Amino acid sequence: MKKISSLFIFSISLLLFFLLSPCLCATKKEKCNPQDKKVLLRIKAAFNNPYHLASWNPDMECCDWYAMKCDFKPPYRVIELTIFSGNISGQIPDAVGDLPYLQTLVFRKLTDLTGQIPRAITKLTHLKMLRLSWTNLSGPVPAFLSELKNLTFLDLAFNDLTGSIPPELSQLQNLDAIHLDRNKLTGTIPESLGNFKGKTPDLYLSHNQLSGPVPRSLGNLNFSFQLDFSRNKLEGDVSFLFGKNKTLPIVDLSRNMFEFDLSKVEFNDNLQYLDLKHNKIYGSLPQGLVQLSNLQFLNVSYNGLCGQIPTGGKLQTFDSTAYFHNRCLCGAPLPSCK
Ligand SMILES: *[C@@H]1O[C@H](CO)[C@@H](O)[C@H](O)[C@H]1NC(C)=O
Ligand SMILES: *[C@@H]1O[C@H](CO)[C@@H](O)[C@H](O)[C@H]1NC(C)=O
Ligand SMILES: *[C@@H]1O[C@H](CO)[C@@H](O)[C@H](O)[C@H]1NC(C)=O
Ligand SMILES: *[C@@H]1O[C@H](CO)[C@@H](O)[C@H](O)[C@H]1NC(C)=O
Ligand SMILES: *[C@@H]1O[C@H](CO)[C@@H](O)[C@H](O)[C@H]1NC(C)=O
Ligand SMILES: *[C@@H]1O[C@H](CO)[C@@H](O)[C@H](O)[C@H]1NC(C)=O
Repeated sequence: MKKISSLFIFSISLLLFFLLSPCLCATKKEKCNPQDKKVLLRIKAAFNNPYHLASWNPDMECCDWYAMKCDFKPPYRVIELTIFSGNISGQIPDAVGDLPYLQTLVFRKLTDLTGQIPRAITKLTHLKMLRLSWTNLSGPVPAFLSELKNLTFLDLAFNDLTGSIPPELSQLQNLDAIHLDRNKLTGTIPESLGNFKGKTPDLYLSHNQLSGPVPRSLGNLNFSFQLDFSRNKLEGDVSFLFGKNKTLPIVDLSRNMFEFDLSKVEFNDNLQYLDLKHNKIYGSLPQGLVQLSNLQFLNVSYNGLCGQIPTGGKLQTFDSTAYFHNRCLCGAPLPSCK
């Protein structure tokens, strides 16, 4: 019995080998599109043929090169270029715009990548993910990015970008998220960002120098996961970002100059993370906070809050530093009210 089964396996293997071997031969013929290959070699040359791209050898099948990916079906065009954590220096070459099937373009953790975001990127009409982050790119967040209509993810965080947020970004209707955090952006958050027609992208704007009030139009949007406005110079009333009909779980407004009465604010039941520390928020903590059964993080320290911390829910699970340095908050976990 054992003998028969091993013979059976052997013949099946033999059969599979002959069935599959034509495919092995087929891979010998180059899949990589010659035009794409030429462009990739131009990109490599523009970066001075860095060691990081040593596998980009013109004698090899380019679909096997490091840091990129061809489509799995003919015509096998290059759809992904992801250069990450390499010793790459220079500017983003205009040649990246000549990979017309690109869906993902990532230059990340390349501290010697300098210069501005080139307009040539707008030729990439299929682009879904654009991630130029943790580099030393400077200049503005270009308004021309709004031409990339299929973009679902825009990440320009951790750069040296200056100027203000271009209002044109609201023309992108498929975005899930915009990361502009950790730059040197100035000016106000444009009113137009309240007018996203398609999806509402989550906004990550922290660690910039944005100023002025947050446009009220943002109150009409249904952000899905996170809003991070922390560490800017934003001011005024942002209570309209909250409300029972919102679904947003994570809100970080810390280290700004927001000034509003917290007593009347209603929070959605989904709220998990609320950071309001270091602002000028006044009034008392609303009783509704007690009902937030998903609340895992709360910090309202360094504001102008007053009155008794409501008792119950998760509110006494946070230590006193979540509440300290207010005008006259009291009650557990702070000292009891007089
Ligand atoms: C990166 O490149 C520079 C100049 O091309 C070289 O001096 C340096 O040693 C390289 N660093 C690493 C980690 O390869
Ligand atoms: C970015 O460039 C500036 C000067 O152009 C340089 O001082 C700084 O060290 C660079 N940053 C990084 C993270 O390499
Ligand atoms: C945008 O994406 C859709 C769906 O993936 C696709 O049908 C369309 O051709 C894309 N548009 C461009 C300009 O690539
Ligand atoms: C939530 O309700 C307010 C008024 O109560 C309304 O103005 C706002 O558009 C609503 N938001 C959403 C996302 O439906
Ligand atoms: C907001 O979006 C969530 C999904 O992210 C959805 O479940 C909810 O119904 C939306 N709310 C409103 C008021 O549009
Ligand atoms: C709240 O924020 C203050 C000020 O930054 C900090 O000292 C404290 O550790 C934080 N507490 C909690 C519980 O997050």
